[in-house]
Amino acid sequence: MTDPLFEPIALGEIACANRIVMAPMTRSRATAGDCPDELHVQYYGQRAGAGLIITEGVQPSIHGKGYARTPGLHDAAQVEAWRAVTARVHGAGGRIVAQLMHTGRVGSHHNKAPGARTVAPSAVRAQVRIWTDTAGLQDCDEPEALTEAGIGAVIDEYVAAARNARAAGFDGVELHATSGYLPMQFLSANANLRTDAWGGSPAARARFAARVMEALCAAIGPGRVGIRICPGNPFNDVTDPDPPTTYAALLGAIQPLDYAWLHVIRSPLPELDAFALARAHYAGRLILNDGFNPESARAALRAGRGDAISFARLFVGNPDLVRRIREGLPLAEFDRNTLYTPGAAGYTDYPESDAR
Ligand SMILES: Cc1cc2nc3c(=O)[nH]c(=O)nc-3n(C[C@H](O)[C@H](O)[C@H](O)COP(=O)(O)O)c2cc1C
Repeated sequence: MTDPLFEPIALGEIACANRIVMAPMTRSRATAGDCPDELHVQYYGQRAGAGLIITEGVQPSIHGKGYARTPGLHDAAQVEAWRAVTARVHGAGGRIVAQLMHTGRVGSHHNKAPGARTVAPSAVRAQVRIWTDTAGLQDCDEPEALTEAGIGAVIDEYVAAARNARAAGFDGVELHATSGYLPMQFLSANANLRTDAWGGSPAARARFAARVMEALCAAIGPGRVGIRICPGNPFNDVTDPDPPTTYAALLGAIQPLDYAWLHVIRSPLPELDAFALARAHYAGRLILNDGFNPESARAALRAGRGDAISFARLFVGNPDLVRRIREGLPLAEFDRNTLYTPGAAGYTDYPESDAR
């Protein structure tokens, strides 16, 4: 029987050699100026066997940065630095897109550049604490509620970052619309208390993510744009009384864009089948995520639940994960303690399998 993980697939205009996607992972190794460096070139280059790499969350503006040592795509030095990463991945036959992550109210001024703001749909502080290199664990900032003009400016920041991504050699971008960051803050009932066109009904709460998707597709072409969702995810203090209705509204609003992929994470709500919901509201390519191993990934593809599978944690300790899956080689564990620490340890020093 052929291995469905190794059938080539086109995600919009992006031709992928296989259906194994490296899921986005924040690894907090950016250097001064929020730039990637030679370590990132090595890290992503080592993993270029994936049909598609989705980078760690990348901030589209200084305001969109929430966490320490995360990289950006909003100035010339960052674009130049990312060029080395995309060149290495392309040189190894891989494809790579940038995940655009605006963390909205999940952020601390300790992690931000001078003058950067913490913005959100409403002035409601996220009840979570956040690591800062200069002051340890901190409460999230009290965010400023975005004005109508401010929302337009944030959408422009996403567009500029998507253009920068293309200039840096990325094959496209993925809008991060889960994990309680800005697009999901708009989608949520507790973070979005607006009474204007951007809040209230599910359709109004979905409007921000939909408008960003429209703008990204208009800027770089829908064949190079995807979106990542996880209906019902409470991470970073967001709640939604009715995720199926909210996400049906979002997916319905963006369906006409004919964007390149929908990346859907299993819902933590046992009664909600997020993969089925995604299929029901999107006719394009589905990337499924969360907790897959090679066997369950093959089974999901054979059952037609999705078109590709993304793996995050398995890629940490297995730079050659694709080869290991193809040849049935044992998979290595990874060290949790070095997930977010600076430097090469636990980042680029996991060995390839020595099997011949
Ligand atoms: C260290 C780490 C960092 C992560 N950072 C991101 C991120 O920046 N963006 C995102 O959408 N998901 C992020 N995730 C979630 C993963 O992409 C993925 O959804 C999750 O790990 C489940 O997939 P898995 O079972 O294959 O690991 C992160 C996960 C881990 C372990």
